[in-house]
Amino acid sequence: MSLRKSQAKKKQKLSGVGEHETGTANTAVGYTPDGKLWALNESSAPFQFKLDEAGVPESLGFDTLQGTLKESISAHPKFDQKNGDILFHGRKMPEKFYAGKIVNGKLVERVDIDMPVAGFHHDMFITENYMVMIDGAMSFTPQEAIKGKQLWMFDQARKLRFGIFDRSKELTKANLQWIEADVAAELLGKPWMASH
Ligand SMILES: [Fe+2]
Repeated sequence: MSLRKSQAKKKQKLSGVGEHETGTANTAVGYTPDGKLWALNESSAPFQFKLDEAGVPESLGFDTLQGTLKESISAHPKFDQKNGDILFHGRKMPEKFYAGKIVNGKLVERVDIDMPVAGFHHDMFITENYMVMIDGAMSFTPQEAIKGKQLWMFDQARKLRFGIFDRSKELTKANLQWIEADVAAELLGKPWMASH
């Protein structure tokens, strides 16, 4: 960690503000089924804002879901406009990966997911019945970058995997089913990845 980053972390700790309540909120914008506007970046909780009649944004602050959200979520949560559910994945590189479900503005379910390699993991997708994690072949390799190689490497040995939750069941480790493809691949574009 750079000196500047470690100093920023110390300041944040001293301030008493949670790590998930600091961030740049600069990756994507979401409009929740209950009418909230979120500016999102995977390093923090969603940052809520509103627009006045002239379309000028006004900051409302990090949305911790009435105190139930204590960590970051990805920049691409999925909104089910039919039943109002919000589903998301999140991570703290490289050690933590998780998924959650938000109902009526509160985090109601959360599960830790074992993810052996720090991968791209930028997005996921939902269908009417399933929530699907994507574990592709891109690996985050800062140890290689300092040797002059790339920060992200495509690992031919890591086959594309989909982690599937049946949405009619609770989000638990036992209810996560992995399906592995025959090939190493990463999903970076449409149809599943959000664009911004
Ligand atoms: Fe994105």
